[in-house]
Amino acid sequence: MGEQLVIQGGKALSGRLPASGSKNAALYALAAPLLTSDPVTLHNVPEIADIEGMGRVLRALGASFEVDGEDVSIDASGVTETVAPQDLAIALRASFLVMGPLLARFGEAASPSPGGDVIGVRPLDVHLAGFRALGADVRREGQNFVARGRLRGARIFLDYPSVLGTVNVLFAAALAEGETVIVNAAAEPEVAMAAEMLVAMGARISGHGSNTITVDGVERLHGVDFTIIPDRIESGTYLLAGVATGGDVAIEGARADHLDSLLTKLAEAGAGVEVTPQYVRACHPPDGAPLRAVQLQAVPYPGFPTDLHAPMAAALTQAEGVSTIHERVFENRLLYLGELRAMGARMTAGGQSVIIEGPTPLVGGAVRALDVRAAAAVVIGGLCASDETIVRDLVHLDRGYPRIEERLTALGATVFRR
Ligand code: UD1
Repeated sequence: MGEQLVIQGGKALSGRLPASGSKNAALYALAAPLLTSDPVTLHNVPEIADIEGMGRVLRALGASFEVDGEDVSIDASGVTETVAPQDLAIALRASFLVMGPLLARFGEAASPSPGGDVIGVRPLDVHLAGFRALGADVRREGQNFVARGRLRGARIFLDYPSVLGTVNVLFAAALAEGETVIVNAAAEPEVAMAAEMLVAMGARISGHGSNTITVDGVERLHGVDFTIIPDRIESGTYLLAGVATGGDVAIEGARADHLDSLLTKLAEAGAGVEVTPQYVRACHPPDGAPLRAVQLQAVPYPGFPTDLHAPMAAALTQAEGVSTIHERVFENRLLYLGELRAMGARMTAGGQSVIIEGPTPLVGGAVRALDVRAAAAVVIGGLCASDETIVRDLVHLDRGYPRIEERLTALGATVFRR
């Protein structure tokens, strides 16, 4: 049956936590060293299962991958293999990011259609169209997508500002001959960080962090010593857990400028929000009033992040009035719904929207963590519940939240694994 997380809820979380390094940004930073034969050292890499999964893919390609706490060293000088192994690659979606670097450096790359959370169809057309626009021949051969060719810069319009798609095309363009302009690029801070890392490796890139990225291809990239940005999704999850339980949580090192949409919604819900250069803090409405319902849409950055949809929904069960969340990024984000309902939440789904009536007292029980962010939602639900909650299927939770029971305990929660 595997490990379970036991939460004895009903306590207001309070205190300070340092932000962890960003899961998604770290995954991009693990793929980038494939672009060079020099060693790369990364700092502030979160200690989570997905990082190990990406490490296994890199090793299978012939790279060395060494982890020492939150420091990771990668040396891709010995890479001879350009085919990502089926069994390792399908375990995580970010593994498809080996395609851009391998194609750019070796002129060929192959990978199966990758896995990850079951939150929707998650096609790869944006990635593949980008490689084709750069001059690669891309085809399906058996289980694999195979791309071959010498890359030349191009103007590329992305059909959708796919996050991984943007990063993959950016990686490929960094070593392509001439100028590439990526239009309708993803503007997420993690994408911008990937570009910053490439710049530190010798790439010529501008416009990252906006929807148009310009890349002037270079012949080679060199090694780098690079620090991963803080995880805005993890920070946001703990801030929401604090507010939902009537507590007061500060995240040290969190980037408030990456959290505009969440902090604005928290303030609208009546929560106290404080931003300083050292930390971002959120607390229950200072006047003692209940949280208020809010309306929001999950959309690409800088809009409200789809990865905080589920944790926000859990927190809004404690807000007075009718909240609505409209999901516009993934079509299957509501995996948390049945679990929170079983805990007493009044939630109804209509298409990609969820309506939440609150406040509702939640009750504990045995619930499942069906994807990484649904996992965070049931944990928040459990922290709000008056009695004991048992969360099963921790594999998803451990994909995104390093040492969660230790971190929640530091905030005064009673949480343990058994
Ligand atoms: C990344 C993040 C994930 C986050 C998501 C959106 C990683 C490992 N994962 O996922 O945590 O929730 O960004 O912020 O970094 N799409 C296409 N064609 C494509 C690719 C995507 O139509 O080729 C669609 C998807 O079906 C989905 C939408 O675009 O509806 C968003 O997907 P995308 O931005 O690509 O998410 P990921 O990069 O997979």
